[in-house]
Amino acid sequence: MIQAYFQHIEQLQLRTHHLVTQHGFDQLLIGSGSLHRHFLDDTRYAFRPNPHFMLWIPFLAEHPDCWLLIREHQTPVLFYHAPTDFWHKTPELPSDEWTKAFDIQAYDDFAAIESALSTLSTAMINEQMPELKSASVSQNPQGLIKALDFHRAIKNEWEQHCLREANYLAVKGHAAAETAFKAGKSEYEIHQHYLNAIAHNERDMPYDNIVGLNEHAAVLHYQFQQRSVPDQHRTLLIDAGARFNGYAADITRTFTPEGSLFADLVRGLDDLQLQLCNQISAGSNFIALHEQMHLMIADLLNRFGIITANPEIQMEQGITRTFYPHGLGHLLGLQVHDVGGWQQDESGTLLNPPEEHPFLRLTRTLEAGYVITVEPGVYFIPQLLQELKNSPASEHVNWVLVEQLLPYGGIRIEDNICVQKDGSENYTRNGFARL
Ligand code: GLY
Ligand code: MN
Ligand code: MN
Repeated sequence: MIQAYFQHIEQLQLRTHHLVTQHGFDQLLIGSGSLHRHFLDDTRYAFRPNPHFMLWIPFLAEHPDCWLLIREHQTPVLFYHAPTDFWHKTPELPSDEWTKAFDIQAYDDFAAIESALSTLSTAMINEQMPELKSASVSQNPQGLIKALDFHRAIKNEWEQHCLREANYLAVKGHAAAETAFKAGKSEYEIHQHYLNAIAHNERDMPYDNIVGLNEHAAVLHYQFQQRSVPDQHRTLLIDAGARFNGYAADITRTFTPEGSLFADLVRGLDDLQLQLCNQISAGSNFIALHEQMHLMIADLLNRFGIITANPEIQMEQGITRTFYPHGLGHLLGLQVHDVGGWQQDESGTLLNPPEEHPFLRLTRTLEAGYVITVEPGVYFIPQLLQELKNSPASEHVNWVLVEQLLPYGGIRIEDNICVQKDGSENYTRNGFARL
C-alpha cells in the first residue's frame, strides 16, 4: 500500500501547487498544531492534529509543532520538532518507508523555519500565530483553504484503503460491544470492551463514543456512560468509530433481544437502510436520498401501526421529523464530519440544506470516490413526541404503541459507503462479513 501513499503525495503536490499559485502564493506551510493548557492548570488537552497536515503525513498524529513546507519543484520539507527536553521523550527522527517522500529536518527553534521561508509569498495553514509578524506570510487564507477542502471529498486509492481498514477495526469493536451488551454490562463497561477490542485509547478515537442503553438510545449525541447496570437490557445504541492512519470510521449499530415489536422495527429500519445504500452511485443527489428515507420511514411507521396516516400525509405534516430528526449522513475522511459537505465548488459556493431539514450535513451531488455515512434513525424522543402530541397531527399517532416503545429509546443504523461510478462499496457491511 505504500505505493498508493506515494501516489497520494504526488497527486497532492500537483493539486496543491496549482491552487497555491492560483491564489497568488509561492509556497504553502502547514503546521501539525500545538498542545494547549487547560484553564488555570498546567495539564494539557489531548492533541488533535491539523487535518491539512494529516492529509500529507497521517503517521505523525502524536507530534505537535511539526511543519511541512511545500514548494514547486522541491521535495516537500518536513520540519520535525525534536526539542531537547528531559521532561518528555524527544521523538526520534522517523525512518519508515513513507519518509522517502520528504526531506526531513529536525528542528528545535521556530527561527529555523522562518529563515527557510525566505521572502517568498507564503500561505500558512495552522492555528493562528499572532507572534508571527512576517509580511510575506498569510495566515489561513480562506480562499485557498476552501479550494483545498473542496477536493478532499474525493478519496483516492490510499485514502479508500485507510477508510476501509478503519471500518474493519471498528466493526471488531461493535462485535465486542454486542457481546458485552448480551452479558448485561453497563454503558461504561461496554465502552471499555469496545476500546479493548480495537486497541485504541480515548485519544485515538475520532469522536467520543455514544453508548446508550434503553431510553438513552433516544438521545442523539448521548454524552454520558453510566457505571451502574440497569435492571433490564432492552436496547444498546452504540455509535463508535476507529482510526486507521488518521482516517475515521463512524458506525452505529442498535442491538436488542429478539421477540419484541421493537426488534422487528430494528430489522425493518436495517432493511430500509440497506435498500437505500444499494441504490447509491455517482450522480445520486443526497438531498433527494434524505427525502426518500423520510418517505421510507413514513411507510415503516405506517406498516407498524405507529402512525395511521399514509406516507404522503405524514410528509405533508412533517410527522417523520419527530421520529427521524437528523440528517441522512455526511462526508467522512480525516474528520468524522469531513469538510465541504455544503460546498459546491472550489470557490466555496454553498448549497444550504432545505429549510425543513436543517441538520443535513451533505448537499453535494455524489461523485465516485466520495466516502459518506448513511445513518437513518427512528427514535422515541420525549421532547419531540410532546410537541407532536400538542399539534393537530397527534390524531394520526397510536399513542399506546408509542408508550410501549418509549423505554427502548431508539434505533440508528450507520454504515460508511464509498461511492463508485456504478454503485458503491459498503465498507461497514463488508467489514462485518470479514470478521
Ligand atoms: N458519530 C456522529 C455522527 O454519526 O455523525
Ligand atoms: Mn456516528
Ligand atoms: Mn455519522
